Amino acid sequence: MSVLVISPGRNPEKWVNELKNQHPGMNVFVYPEEHDKEEVEYAIAWKHPRGIFKNYPNLKVVASMGAGVDHITSDPEIPEHVKITRIVDGQLREDMGDFVLALILNHLRNLSLHHNSREWKPKSYIRIKDTRVGIMGLGVLGSGVAEKLVKNDFQVSGWSRSKKELEGVKSYELDELEDFLENLDVLVCLLPLTPDTENILNSDLFEKLPEGAFLINVARGEHLVEQDLLNYVNSGHLSGAALDVFRKEPLPEDHPFWENPKIYITPHIASVTDPKEVVPQIVDNYERMTEGEELHNVVRREKGY
Ligand code: NAP
Ligand code: GLV
Repeated sequence: MSVLVISPGRNPEKWVNELKNQHPGMNVFVYPEEHDKEEVEYAIAWKHPRGIFKNYPNLKVVASMGAGVDHITSDPEIPEHVKITRIVDGQLREDMGDFVLALILNHLRNLSLHHNSREWKPKSYIRIKDTRVGIMGLGVLGSGVAEKLVKNDFQVSGWSRSKKELEGVKSYELDELEDFLENLDVLVCLLPLTPDTENILNSDLFEKLPEGAFLINVARGEHLVEQDLLNYVNSGHLSGAALDVFRKEPLPEDHPFWENPKIYITPHIASVTDPKEVVPQIVDNYERMTEGEELHNVVRREKGY
């Protein structure tokens, strides 16, 4: 029985070393090296080539290297019986909270605007206690961001499929999107990418936000209709946006986002999985699989997250 690590475009060395350190008996193949496909029961994947898993007759589990699983669930050729798992990690949650907090403070205190502007032009600023932040997606990461913002005295609300009980957070459910959007200064997207959420950040939604609202997308590039954002930022309806994720990564050099002074770009670094932190849960699920036990953090394939 073997494990396949498959992450084209991402160096798998740290993952392989941690797997071998933490489970010395494990037989690990690294794609695309020569390997016997019949031997592989467990794959650890990030953006695998589409369709490849149908060639592994004994595959039982595909484990995502990250919190997101859209790179796996979007492959229609993964057999139904194969379980998909994702990473749930306290450090990832903490890092996402820190990052969103930093982006909001940067926006409120106009730091990017003042930095290197060569202009001595103090701009008035908005205080934390007067800032209403809404989070789309109150799952593992969204609820972590909400907790951090509540602790820092923001006014926090969240929107998710089902209502949540989170201290200090006003929770809205699926059919309350409009009510959720109408009183926000900052909107944070932390939804998973599914057929229901693709292109959700579009003109219709921006129109429902108050004039001057700021958008933060730290979920997936495909949530955002890029031209709609440009239109709403250029018209002034949105005061700007901070984007960490893009439809095409790296963001192409000639992309209009680079030129827009109201759009802040970061290279998908909001919350990065540390193999050392998460390999224990990968190994635990591997052992559960071999013992025929229930796995942890299994994706509900009918929901897509
Ligand atoms: P999660 O725990 O699965 O949470 C998803 C949340 O979204 C849940 O609250 C869910 O509602 C809600 N949701 C799902 N579909 C919805 C819909 N159609 N309408 C309204 N709400 C919906 O996911 P997570 O671990 O927090 O991760 C969120 C995403 O962050 C990942 O999928 C990934 O794309 C992104 N991410 C980005 C980075 C980065 O560095 N930029 C790092 C890690 C992850 P219910 O609770 O009611 O089910
Ligand atoms: C990163 O984007 C992740 O899904 O972990």
